[in-house]
Amino acid sequence: MSASHAPTELSSTPPDRNGTASPLEALGSGAGPVRVLRPRRAAPADAVRPTRAEVNLAHLRHNLRVLERALNGVKRPQIWGVLKADAYGHGAPAVARTLERAGIPGLGVALLEEAIELRDAGIRLPILVMGGYYGPRREGFEEIIARDLVPVVYDAGQIERLANVVRLEQRDRVGVHLKVDTGMGRLGATSSELEAVFAMLAKHPEVRLDGLMTHLACADADDLGVTIEQMRRFEEIEQRAKSFGLTPRVRHASNSAAMLRLPAAWLDIVRPGVALFGISPRAGLAPDLKPVIRVRSEVVALRTIAKGDSIGYGHTWQASRESVVATVPMGYADGLSRQLSNRGAALVRGQRAPIAGAVSMDLTMLDVTDVPGARVGDEVVFLGTQDGPLGRATISVEEIAALTGTIAWEVLTSISRRVPRFYREP
Ligand SMILES: Cc1ncc(COP(=O)(O)O)c(C=O)c1O
Repeated sequence: MSASHAPTELSSTPPDRNGTASPLEALGSGAGPVRVLRPRRAAPADAVRPTRAEVNLAHLRHNLRVLERALNGVKRPQIWGVLKADAYGHGAPAVARTLERAGIPGLGVALLEEAIELRDAGIRLPILVMGGYYGPRREGFEEIIARDLVPVVYDAGQIERLANVVRLEQRDRVGVHLKVDTGMGRLGATSSELEAVFAMLAKHPEVRLDGLMTHLACADADDLGVTIEQMRRFEEIEQRAKSFGLTPRVRHASNSAAMLRLPAAWLDIVRPGVALFGISPRAGLAPDLKPVIRVRSEVVALRTIAKGDSIGYGHTWQASRESVVATVPMGYADGLSRQLSNRGAALVRGQRAPIAGAVSMDLTMLDVTDVPGARVGDEVVFLGTQDGPLGRATISVEEIAALTGTIAWEVLTSISRRVPRFYREP
């Protein structure tokens, strides 16, 4: 069980785990304490409500092994696990700790804040800060240096600012990964900016180009044409870098889909996110993956309503017969999409029960008329598998994504911080 779910706090740079001053304070950077808004999640010890997410760490380790086995080429790339957005909703500190112990060589996150959360949790692995945002002042880069993080940069100004901070901090050199845009059109130096970026890197030996990376836009599409073209452009950019005397030690491009489909995109590091959590980014790509998260609650109220009665906001559900309705304390504020109103289902006693009426903020009703023996206190599963007296049933992330018109990534990252994560080590 993770122990690092601190309440919300706008803190100054926190002391290290021994309670001594942080490396940044010890450096006397003069910039004053860095203020970092730490994420909040209900800690399991605070959980009174029976709604919780159970995270199966054995399945996480299993998925890492499945991915390692998938990389069976001549030269195996390293796997750096992408743990942005609180490890896709699974709780980044516990997930990182598990992967670190399982021998993963590196991690990636989107935000500097996320990287700091992992360092505070005692994670010592290399952490790549992929979002490339360090704020307008020096403090962001100072944190990068003090916490030994790997910054992603994508423009010449960032490189110059980082070089200044490295000099001010009297550090030797800082390694960066340069992100280049090969067709995503989102973040990364564009073709016309590359000249200036390479010139800046060549001018500032304090900033060492350790990695060259790009992100693929269509690796899960039917047609891999766009991805192949992105990889061609990436190779071209690598050659341009060489002409400036820049030879990055590692190159990387693959998300889960590319690593499972296109060995030509493996390069030196692959960056799977969603596959680590048991989701195949395309149907059938990795059948051995196991879902890691399960969301469950319990029936807290049960009523029998007459034929013709309506329930919930807007009275959108009307009983077509005398019905038994169960109320469950999980709502859209917990990440159960309102789009599941009158469409989705949950599992009770090992059987599906349809959602009846509008999902509200904190509560949802189920029609359990056809679930014999349903009673207050029964477990209710909104996501995952349930074994019960009536059988075994599963509601997958993919099913919810299809029903709500979104993707598995959004379903996972929507499980809100109000739902405490419990870690299972079976
Ligand atoms: C830069 C980068 N690399 C890798 C990933 C991992 O992607 P996926 O979850 O599809 O494996 C992401 C997530 O979108 C990303 O933004």
